[in-house]
Amino acid sequence: MSTNKVEVKYRCMHSSCCANCREGSIALNEDYLKDLAASSEKEFFKSPKGFCRLGFSQTFKIVAMKEAEEFDSQDLDFANPEEHPITLLMAEHKVILAKMEKVEDQLRIRDIDALWTACTELENDLILHSGIKEEEVLFPALQNLVTFGDALVSIIKEDHREVLSLLHNFRTALEDGEISDSIIISMIVSLRSHIRKENLEFFEIIGKCIDESHRVSILEGMKKAQENYVPIEAGDRQKIAEERKAAKAKRHFIDESINAFREVNSGTGCCH
Ligand SMILES: [Fe+2]
Ligand SMILES: [Fe+2]
Repeated sequence: MSTNKVEVKYRCMHSSCCANCREGSIALNEDYLKDLAASSEKEFFKSPKGFCRLGFSQTFKIVAMKEAEEFDSQDLDFANPEEHPITLLMAEHKVILAKMEKVEDQLRIRDIDALWTACTELENDLILHSGIKEEEVLFPALQNLVTFGDALVSIIKEDHREVLSLLHNFRTALEDGEISDSIIISMIVSLRSHIRKENLEFFEIIGKCIDESHRVSILEGMKKAQENYVPIEAGDRQKIAEERKAAKAKRHFIDESINAFREVNSGTGCCH
């Protein structure tokens, strides 16, 4: 199979294409493009799976084509991670993986208070890294460069939601003194696979879209996000659980009082 990559500028032929994939460019392996060729007419091909935001395989017309610029993450300067958004995010992946290993150690020895603190730290790291630096800084900056599909960003965001909600649910169970192995194991598996996906696939795809001006502006955005982030405090686990229970009981009491009031006044004609 050929390893040559081509960058294709395309136009979607769907008459009522209303999504952002109407026009754009996509980098594809030459042989893969041949497989996607819609017919003997060389200027058309079927959009790759997941590329059309409407979820269908559409016919795309080739408007222009050139050899794709190769991006090799090996060329990045990993000794100075703060110099490029990708090396910065990859360095943060290492920190996140190390913190996750710490969580695994505490899980083995069933240290609930250490888990509480470590998971809060991990949640802070994930909110800042995935939710803010990736979703609020990196993705919008890449939006108009479109060498990759919005579908890919949707997959990444979906992963973020899944990992964060599992971690959050695990922490909520910890408040009640419960160590939910199934939830945290699902979170660990999802997070490892997500980081692998970004390091090996996603960053390779977006790497060649980041030119010098984008490199500088994305780094600036990430730096600002780091400075402005206010981390969640772990706090006293048992005290938080007691406060949550008290608030729940108070809500329950208010609801009961309202219901009792409604019952007393129903059928009396009282409208106050
Ligand atoms: Fe990431
Ligand atoms: Fe991510």
